[in-house]
Amino acid sequence: MKILGIETSCDETGLAVFDPNNGIIANVIHSQVDLHQAYGGVVPELASRDHIRRIVPLLKQIFNESGIHQSDIDGVAYTAGPGLVGALLVGAAVGRSLAYAWNVPAVAIHHMEAHLLAPMLEDEPPQYPFLALLVSGGHTQIIKVERPGQYELLGESLDDAAGEAFDKTAKLLGLGYPGGPVISKLAEIGNPGRFYFPRPMTDRPGLDFSFSGLKTHTMLTIQQSDDDPQTHADIARSFVDAVVDTLTIKCRRAMEQTGIRSLVAAGGVSANLQLRESLGHMTGKLGGKVYYPRMEFCTDNGAMIAYAGYLHIKEGRSEPLSFAAYPRWDMTSYK
Ligand code: KG4
Ligand code: ZN
Repeated sequence: MKILGIETSCDETGLAVFDPNNGIIANVIHSQVDLHQAYGGVVPELASRDHIRRIVPLLKQIFNESGIHQSDIDGVAYTAGPGLVGALLVGAAVGRSLAYAWNVPAVAIHHMEAHLLAPMLEDEPPQYPFLALLVSGGHTQIIKVERPGQYELLGESLDDAAGEAFDKTAKLLGLGYPGGPVISKLAEIGNPGRFYFPRPMTDRPGLDFSFSGLKTHTMLTIQQSDDDPQTHADIARSFVDAVVDTLTIKCRRAMEQTGIRSLVAAGGVSANLQLRESLGHMTGKLGGKVYYPRMEFCTDNGAMIAYAGYLHIKEGRSEPLSFAAYPRWDMTSYK
């Protein structure tokens, strides 16, 4: 069985083919970072137009490079939400149409479900049940994963997502977009002792997050400080330490509350090396383990969509001929 996965929810056009016997057998991606850089963030209309420009050439590239023929494809999976509606509609329209033309099933995939399943593509995948820390540009959630399709939301951000906080802080420091990688790089040369930023909502029970206060605290600190590059590095360091500590404290709490010792971290922010070190340390102390997708599958990609699609199609799921995109979509209630 070969499943084509299509990801267009934000600023990456990703296509991949998953085959249960051989794993990911083809994977291509086009990132729109250069396109949006000048604007300091993703411009939705430009994103949609670029997905339209790229998607068919990328499909041709996949077939040319891998030797897979369109008649080999047994199903098409596309990201149907959550995300930017215009961007989602490109993948949904193309995915649904290809499935119709090839007379194979199409499945609409939840982007965050695909993120949390991405570590299953690795050589040593976690066993079910596990906890998942989903940290992306739009989401910060802790989910209890009983098995594929059975998800319980244990906590989430009440305002900004962790990735969003990285992106906004980077903008305040004039570091451009996307903020995550640049802030963490800068934080490496920052002095941890110069500023102390709050660890929001860690002093009260519960597993929810809030990052908007931290963002404001960072903004005020920047305004009250000098423009010295070392000062910026010190601020970046304190910001990263605060986010990483907060995420780690909540994950530890979730592991203690549920007794589950396997933790998956997925979504763009899970590429963060400081977070990986901290989660590794914490899970080790609890006698548990943390699992990640490989680096290239932490951020958006078609491979995770193809894999999630395979699981759905294997269960006999398929969309009707009509298709839709869901900019907001609650993963725990979508079955
Ligand atoms: O999962 P993703 O590629 O797209 C969404 O589904 O949102 O996540 C993108 C987010 C951005 O906010 C980006 O700044 C953040 O992930 N990110 C990082 C790192 N790499 C990407 N944040 C912290 N450290 C990183 N190394
Ligand atoms: Zn994502």
